[in-house]
Amino acid sequence: MPDLPPAREQGLAYRIALVCLGNICRSPMAEVVLSAKLADRGLTERVQVDSAGTGDWHVGEPMDERAATTLDAHGYDPTLHRARQFSVDWHRGHDLVLVMDRSNLRAVQATAPDEDSRSRVYLFREFDPAAAGELEVADPWYGGASGFEDVLAVLERTTDVLVASLASVGAPHGRD
Ligand code: 4NP
Repeated sequence: MPDLPPAREQGLAYRIALVCLGNICRSPMAEVVLSAKLADRGLTERVQVDSAGTGDWHVGEPMDERAATTLDAHGYDPTLHRARQFSVDWHRGHDLVLVMDRSNLRAVQATAPDEDSRSRVYLFREFDPAAAGELEVADPWYGGASGFEDVLAVLERTTDVLVASLASVGAPHGRD
């Protein structure tokens, strides 16, 4: 598993961007799950989480209904999400960018303003303790409900690992 990149600025919350294609399925699910686990560990002030899509088709829309139903069934709140699009500013505003698949990786790397920004971008599943060589979170958009359950299982076990590592980063009083 990679080491987490250091914070860009000391004294601020550690800022994580989660990125997929549409920002209505995988990355918002990851944002909700990671945020809930950080809150459980009392790390909300130290670590800030956002999500975005590389595409703009769904900007402003809530989460995909199947994604929301899956989260809700597992006790998470999907209702606050509205889709946003990744842009170059997101590189400068985040310490770590986690993308769901290699297509997202190419799109995000193509907008990186410098080498430091490029070095902060990882495939989300590089942190999956059970990845077993599969480093993409498969896009569930074209499939049925079971695909969303599979995505959630990957997200839950991977965010557990991330939260354990994040317990030691970030300042106690971060930026709002
Ligand atoms: P996501 O899934 O990248 O996990 O949010 C998708 C959502 C929408 C589309 C593709 C993937 N789309 O083609 O509109």
